[in-house]
Amino acid sequence: MSEEDLVVDVLAEVTLEDPSPVAPESPLVTVGATVPTGFEFTAAAEVEEKLRRPCKISKDRGKIYFQISPDSLAQVHRLRSVDNLFVVVQEFTDFPFKEVKEAALQDFQELAAKISWDKALQTWELNNNLKKKKKRKKTSGCGKEKKQAEAAGAEDAAAEEPPAPPAGQTLDNQVGDSSAPAPSDTTSSDPEGNDATDDVSKVLKFRVTCNRAGDKHSFTSNEAARDFGGAVQEHFQWKADMTNFDVEVLLNISYNEMLVGIALTEESLHRRNITHFGPTTLRSTLAYGMLRLCDLEPSDVVIDPMCGTGAIPIEGVSEWPGCFFIAGDNNMNAVNRTSSNILSLLRKQQSADSAPQGLPIDTTHWDISHLPLRSGSVDVIITDMPFGKRIGSKKKNWDLYPACLREMSRVCRAGTGRAVLLTHDRKCFIKALAKAGHLWRKMHTVWVNIGGLHAGVYLLKRTTLDFSDSSSERLEENQPLSPISPAKEE
Ligand SMILES: C[S@@+](CC[C@H](N)C(=O)[O-])C[C@H]1O[C@@H](n2cnc3c(N)ncnc32)[C@H](O)[C@@H]1O
Repeated sequence: MSEEDLVVDVLAEVTLEDPSPVAPESPLVTVGATVPTGFEFTAAAEVEEKLRRPCKISKDRGKIYFQISPDSLAQVHRLRSVDNLFVVVQEFTDFPFKEVKEAALQDFQELAAKISWDKALQTWELNNNLKKKKKRKKTSGCGKEKKQAEAAGAEDAAAEEPPAPPAGQTLDNQVGDSSAPAPSDTTSSDPEGNDATDDVSKVLKFRVTCNRAGDKHSFTSNEAARDFGGAVQEHFQWKADMTNFDVEVLLNISYNEMLVGIALTEESLHRRNITHFGPTTLRSTLAYGMLRLCDLEPSDVVIDPMCGTGAIPIEGVSEWPGCFFIAGDNNMNAVNRTSSNILSLLRKQQSADSAPQGLPIDTTHWDISHLPLRSGSVDVIITDMPFGKRIGSKKKNWDLYPACLREMSRVCRAGTGRAVLLTHDRKCFIKALAKAGHLWRKMHTVWVNIGGLHAGVYLLKRTTLDFSDSSSERLEENQPLSPISPAKEE
């Protein structure tokens, strides 16, 4: 069970059974979330739909903010488009950072005592205490799950690669060791299993993480974190600990804006589905953003023809179980990893005490240029194409991309079919799309950041033209056969 599941479980449970430490009528708190860059609007739409709260997109990309009552924290942890969560202590929209370094740092030293921490700390406490309580409950009672997880790991130990480092937030600096691992839950529990926060006499451990953008500051992020951290320590009498901290205080500085927050997640929530990683496994939060663009309807047949580890269809089947997903790849290792990931999801469902059930997803070995599917049988094609960097090559893409679009045009339902395609090789993609402009209409492009690469997510709509009416020679001619003009790069 992932950290996210634990939190959701326990918070849902506590909301129902336990009196919350924060009364339901308590004032709203502002929660911030880091999201995949480019998918801020998608994430805001998810918040508005699921929490029924207006959502603000931050000026610096990759973050959203919304207000919640602390008793809806469980729902916040269930969001699929967010990576890391934090509660806002205080936000300064125009902080007068001093030009003289000593004066600027003096302001950081005075800040901790000036701001009001209460609401944010109560929210953190609710989030943190319940998470730990649930973990204790889990470790005391489920040997079965552990055995299953071990068995799953053993099955494909050779194929598994280390997960990609957490992304979504570039940490400029922390007080002390910035490569420190996520806090360990065990370190803040005493032998009786009491949390640090249960025992008022126990001193909390904390660290400050500073994330700074802007070149006009007279101080470094390290200096800001150090001086603010010193003041936090003095104010609360907490103990600084870079690795085994209970509280992670965030100091986000962007030009003249500053935000003080407290982290609510120890690791990004994108780490949820995948247990068997490949060289280019897509983050689940990004996969979710792509899936949302497809406007999936129940009973849609959805394929990922170049599925890798299956991150997209697996996220799809978790969130849209009314659709049917087929994941294929021409690399047998990828197919095996997808199969193991589907198996892990099935086991997770079963271990969550629900009745064992199947999932509407299958995986197969195929080549995208000859899909074993009937013409017009697919509603949605969603895939993360080889960028030509870690998988394939830019040279190969010149043949692969036109072949992909041609075969996708054949299997996709004319008139209603959609495709959402992610690529960094934009030049090649746009050229290939121009050749197939009579079969696809480009509706929208979302620009995303994939591990520092500027990539495009293209939403295409299948035109009404029958594939059989368009001969391959005509496709090569680069001449649109319908009045719809060929797609152009934005
Ligand atoms: C960028 S990766 C997909 C990564 C995937 N989204 C994930 O999360 O793991 C592209 C995939 O396309 C597959 N591929 C390349 N050429 C293909 C072809 N002709 N037919 C099917 N799959 C192909 C590669 O094996 C690779 O797994």
